[in-house]
Amino acid sequence: MSSQYFAGKTVWITGASSGIGEALAYRCSATGARLILSARREDELARVKASCAHSDRCTVMPLDLSNQQQIESVADKVLQQFGTVDILVNNGGISQRSTVIETDVNVDRRIMEVDYFSGVILTKKLLPAMTAKGAGHIVVISSIVGLFGFPVRSAYSAAKHALHGFYESLWAEQHTQGIRVTIVCPGRILTDVSLHALTKDGTPHGIMDHGQKNGITADTCARKIMRAVRKNKKEVYIGKIDLLMIYFKRYIPWLYYQLVSKVQPK
Ligand SMILES: NC(=O)c1ccc[n+]([C@@H]2O[C@H](COP(=O)([O-])OP(=O)(O)OC[C@H]3O[C@@H](n4cnc5c(N)ncnc54)[C@H](OP(=O)(O)O)[C@@H]3O)[C@@H](O)[C@H]2O)c1
Repeated sequence: MSSQYFAGKTVWITGASSGIGEALAYRCSATGARLILSARREDELARVKASCAHSDRCTVMPLDLSNQQQIESVADKVLQQFGTVDILVNNGGISQRSTVIETDVNVDRRIMEVDYFSGVILTKKLLPAMTAKGAGHIVVISSIVGLFGFPVRSAYSAAKHALHGFYESLWAEQHTQGIRVTIVCPGRILTDVSLHALTKDGTPHGIMDHGQKNGITADTCARKIMRAVRKNKKEVYIGKIDLLMIYFKRYIPWLYYQLVSKVQPK
């Protein structure tokens, strides 16, 4: 049971104000874990906290994942208050809906900051306390497009690919020190991710895409993430038929190239 792995642990979830992070907060809280909930929207975090099974064991710590100073000062507060974090879930992130040619490079940088560097910064802040304790689990929410390229996701796909290189290397360096790493690659999940996705000039896409609408629920995704974490999986894929692209890219690359070239960008 996942509950036994999470019970009594301190779990820090970024992007806990909606979607997958919110669903994870509910499931983790039900196990009796102590939670730290982070995102920008404090009111939404307060709503999630109030709906958690053990809201008295939830602490809201708002932060902007594009702001290094803020991430570091919140991490200092967390370390002061909790000593160490047992499970860090680097979930907060932002997607993209714009082609390479039209996208302002500041949008590429913003996506890289939020989706890649924020997790790197948090990991570096928390790792010393984890290794001192000889235990710590870093859960990284990547995407299936962290494993292959896809139209109108160039910066998003690049940031997610970067996570794999960083966290596989971290695991290789630290697994003998009790550090666990689980990289999660969701396919399409029914959340507001496409509404919040950035367009060419950084404004939100604002549309619920067909793919998301027909995706699996955030709660099912959260359940599968917790199972993978409990089982100490290094990499896990969560989705429906969309997962096939991972295997096409890996084993039948010509088919991947044919299929991806036919995708209607949106
Ligand atoms: N849904 C999918 O189909 C799908 C597929 C593959 C991977 N993923 C990944 O899953 C993760 C969660 O996304 P979701 O689907 O649950 O979408 P979502 O509902 O849009 O949630 C995104 C979360 O990230 C937070 N966030 C965004 N920018 C932030 C910033 N600058 N600072 C702090 N927090 C920020 C948001 O909170 P605030 O707005 O309150 O800051 C929100 O809590 C992301 O990493 C995403 O890339 C999603």
